[in-house]
Amino acid sequence: MRTGLFSRRTALGLRQGAISAVGSVKIKLLLSCCILFTLIAFASRTSSFVGWKHHTGAPVHRIYGPRKGYAILINTWKRNDLLKQSISHYTSCPGLDSVHIVWSEPDPPSDSLVTYLNHVIKSNSRDGRQIELKYDINKEDSLNNRFKEIKDLKTDAIFSIDDDIIFPCSSVEFAFSAWLSAPDAMVGFVPRIHWVDQLKGNTDHYIYGGWWSVWWMGTYSMVLSKAAFFHKKYLSLYTNEMPASIRKYVTKSRNCEDIAMSFLVANATGAPPIWVKGKIFEIGSTGISTLGGHNEKRTECVNRFVAEYGRMPLVSTSVKAVDGRNIWFW
Ligand SMILES: *[C@@H]1O[C@H](CO)[C@@H](O)[C@H](O)[C@H]1NC(C)=O
Repeated sequence: MRTGLFSRRTALGLRQGAISAVGSVKIKLLLSCCILFTLIAFASRTSSFVGWKHHTGAPVHRIYGPRKGYAILINTWKRNDLLKQSISHYTSCPGLDSVHIVWSEPDPPSDSLVTYLNHVIKSNSRDGRQIELKYDINKEDSLNNRFKEIKDLKTDAIFSIDDDIIFPCSSVEFAFSAWLSAPDAMVGFVPRIHWVDQLKGNTDHYIYGGWWSVWWMGTYSMVLSKAAFFHKKYLSLYTNEMPASIRKYVTKSRNCEDIAMSFLVANATGAPPIWVKGKIFEIGSTGISTLGGHNEKRTECVNRFVAEYGRMPLVSTSVKAVDGRNIWFW
């Protein structure tokens, strides 16, 4: 094969009397490839634009049977407008089974909020089946509240979410299907990384890295619970099995409940989480805080938890789950 190509090339070179002819053939070949790919790309964009391809697929509850969707666990704090907005949105997603609002404000939910949300839920019921809506009212204001065990939960999957970010239903359902492939893993949209602090010289000091670090290294070891699927069993592990000193630390530092959950799942599975590509819409005004800053406190949490576990349970990976329908070239 190799000699065949070589002899053909030599023949061509001899016929045209110059070696540079081989180069120009290569360039022409490359050019036609470029044109071909451009045409393919254009055709695939046009087809999806015109609507030949259907991106939505069948509703999840029809594929997985009744009561086999997921529950949304939403953390909120004095931002009723954001809560209304995100619950109105998520109730339109086909796989949603129930909504659990983690409420830690001193005052109970107002009548107007309850009335509004009841109306939203009712108008989004499907096939005579209504989405469940529950308020988990807490006296104590602790970040551990968001991982309290939920009794009588009919689904195994929990989609844990903050009230100030919204994901389109297509992204949520895609993450849910990724979770179904790995129900023990945390499957989420916001990756974070840890690495050994080289400067300190000792190998047991770690640094927490945010969005930029993940982008730079292409590697991650956590997905944050502000936007992640996980199995409901981890809620009871968090509240009942995880060392109380970790929960105490989370309450006191008012931070890092998401890192604590990442440690818990990593310790239980010995495996990395799964980062899923999805569109993120920030509806709060705190867009910048998710990009950088406050990493010293997070670094402190990581090292504190490593000390509690006696080892570093987090596992790094560079795997990213992407919806195959949205890539035209592979
Ligand atoms: C980590 O996992 C092991 C094995 O499953 C378990 O025995 C241990 O209690 C866990 N550690 C913590 C701190 O939860």
